[in-house]
Amino acid sequence: MTWRCIWRLSCIALGAALKEGSPVIGMFSLPTAPMFCSNSNCEVLPASYVKFIESAGGEVVPVSFNATDSEMDQLLESLNGFLFTGGADLKPPPAALRVLQRSEELFKVGDPHNQLPLWGTCLGFEWLVAATSPPSLISGFRADNVNLPLHFLPEAGASRLFGKAPHHILDALKFKNVSFNSHHRGVRPVEWSKRPELRTTLKVLATSLDEDGKEFVSAIEGVDGLPWFGVQFHPEKNAFEHGFLPDGQPAALAKHTPEAISVTQFFANFFVEQARQNRRNFQSVADEAKHLIYGHQTSRAFQPYFDEVFLFSTSASSNEMNPAPPAGHILV
Ligand SMILES: *[C@@H]1O[C@H](CO)[C@@H](O)[C@H](O)[C@H]1NC(C)=O
Ligand SMILES: *[C@@H]1O[C@H](CO)[C@@H](O)[C@H](O)[C@H]1NC(C)=O
Repeated sequence: MTWRCIWRLSCIALGAALKEGSPVIGMFSLPTAPMFCSNSNCEVLPASYVKFIESAGGEVVPVSFNATDSEMDQLLESLNGFLFTGGADLKPPPAALRVLQRSEELFKVGDPHNQLPLWGTCLGFEWLVAATSPPSLISGFRADNVNLPLHFLPEAGASRLFGKAPHHILDALKFKNVSFNSHHRGVRPVEWSKRPELRTTLKVLATSLDEDGKEFVSAIEGVDGLPWFGVQFHPEKNAFEHGFLPDGQPAALAKHTPEAISVTQFFANFFVEQARQNRRNFQSVADEAKHLIYGHQTSRAFQPYFDEVFLFSTSASSNEMNPAPPAGHILV
């Protein structure tokens, strides 16, 4: 009996400080070729990013790339975090700049239980950099379908992202080449000595060398507790992309070894835990249910590069997302 009371009390105490249940993470779907939808405005969100969040106990709300200011204002009151996915070279849309701005405002207010944590993968990492210091993001790197080691900087030891990482995770990242890269844009570490706006906002935690030996920043986090985290590589692909080309070669060389999978899980658990630290909620369970990704149709249209994607037809007038038509109508 006593343990029950203690258990209940601790639950109440936790509930006051942390979001009970599952943090809800927003993700932008990105514009794609109209041929993938039956409608001319088509957006895509690879399911691997959704699974990445769900594998750590989070839930996902898809958000249109062109979401309006009023839609964003409402969502930013309700979501517990945001993940910017990888994708083609696109500038952060106004809706993403609004997410970054809101996260920064909440950080300045300083309530540790009312932050909006952000995660950026590949293009999403580039958005964190581009929004902070546009000229720092350059092209000309060669890291195309390649697994690379991470070189940790001394800052990593005291960082939120890696400071408490188990040795086997750090060792895998350092020695087992479990970070899968696919990008030609990036940011050189030298930019940090040239650009104060980078130094005051983002910290370099790790770098990697591209296929020509050029050093690029591969992991960052916000300065002084700003809850922004970014990696130039793709942790989600190790666990969730398995496609093969017609010749039998893997479409993406991401590793699927147990240590590669534990690295995926490490990053997912880390970010979802950040998102548990705030208490934002949708106004009602029904309101949340209306926004969650459940029930949207997945498609195989992007295989073998993406095993599954969510496709969204967006209507230009309202920007509201409609469920994609059944996969059979989309396959090309
Ligand atoms: C990891 O990649 C580096 C650089 O590309 C290479 O020199 C090294 O042999 C690789 N190590 C493993 C374990 O694959
Ligand atoms: C969304 O934004 C993109 C890029 O700015 C644009 O090309 C596209 O037409 C927009 N879609 C809608 C539905 O407004």
